[in-house]
Amino acid sequence: MSNHRVVCWDCGADVADPYVNVCPECGGLLTVKMDLEELKGKRPADLRSRPIGVWRYYPFMPVDPEHKVSIQEGGTPLYRTDALAKELGMKEAYVKFEGLNPTGSFKDRGMTVGVSHAKELGAGTVGCASTGNTSASLAAYAAKAGMKCAVFLPSGKVAMGKLAQALFFGAKVLSVDGNFDDALALARKMADERKLYLLNSINPYRPEGQKSVLFEIMDQLDYCIPDRIILPVGNAANIWAVYKALTELREVGWIDRMPRLTGIQAEGSAPVASAFRSKSEDFVPEPNPETIATAIRIGNPVSGRKALRAIYSTGGFCTTVTDEEIISAQQLLGRKEGVCVEPASAASVAGLRKLRSEGIIQEDERVVCICTGNGLKDPDSIINNCAPPVRCRNSVEDAERILSS
Ligand code: F0G
Repeated sequence: MSNHRVVCWDCGADVADPYVNVCPECGGLLTVKMDLEELKGKRPADLRSRPIGVWRYYPFMPVDPEHKVSIQEGGTPLYRTDALAKELGMKEAYVKFEGLNPTGSFKDRGMTVGVSHAKELGAGTVGCASTGNTSASLAAYAAKAGMKCAVFLPSGKVAMGKLAQALFFGAKVLSVDGNFDDALALARKMADERKLYLLNSINPYRPEGQKSVLFEIMDQLDYCIPDRIILPVGNAANIWAVYKALTELREVGWIDRMPRLTGIQAEGSAPVASAFRSKSEDFVPEPNPETIATAIRIGNPVSGRKALRAIYSTGGFCTTVTDEEIISAQQLLGRKEGVCVEPASAASVAGLRKLRSEGIIQEDERVVCICTGNGLKDPDSIINNCAPPVRCRNSVEDAERILSS
């Protein structure tokens, strides 16, 4: 018997057709309602006999773990970043480094569940639009599952490492004229015509896997609830997934309060932050999103309204950071903590720095920044912002001269 139902997030209707991505009744967003009754008498420790990772939390996942398509996703480190905390004048800061997932981003958490579900449905071709990471992840999981994969990428705006991954794993890569929002509109049309099974985060199974990052953080902190969790916001599903995980932990009685969920957007792509500033529950799309953090270069975030709900109902916050602040935070994390994240991921740390300097985050808050992707995905953003290598003749004298300069 199934442990979940798909329902409309807007009108509450049950949705039976597994191929639709919006409510057939009202056009609203979909979500999964888990049946968590069995967990109510249990404790987090009851799941700890399984290795840390997405599938440790199988009772919270809407797929039978027997059918899982897995490449050992999740189980990423939670670093206590004391040098970063000191730099920002705070007592305790952590970085959850999602760049150590199999394809180098948090997307693998959603994809293991999404592709497992697609396999249960018998889908032959899966597809997605992407700023890069989703396509890299889907391509890998489709390969593992033996499915065909089509990815729709905004032409010329995908970081090199991500494009290389999608090609490498054998996906059909379509370079679409336009930005991510245009590519997603095309992928959605293809899905509506049943030419592919869509695995963007509008598919309600994807965020279910992404909930696991929160379950892991709680396990790694031994259920000491952090005061705040900071995430970059692009298409806005991940912050929603973290919120949904919190609501489920509260439902089973494992937590009694929630961290303030804090979303960070790039200044040139900030519809959710603008909505937050005007205290609105809906956002106005940004027609020409622009930022060096190409992963979050999105003007019309599908889950924008869900993200705003997550932020408002946890007493959280949402703000923007500039490209300069993003690069500076990326370098700070590298130079102080030995952690290399991509620009979009550094937005969370840039946001922490900004909100700390504005006094919105207090020095004694326990803060977790989720750093969503690996820096090696986007080598250009690193090379272009570091001093170049120094030319050295093959001699000790020349090497010494350079080292002492
Ligand atoms: N960080 C990284 C590294 C991402 O790749 C993304 C989204 C986000 C943050 C934002 O997460 O969309 O759930 O708010 N990347 C998508 C992609 C859009 O296609 O790879 P979100």
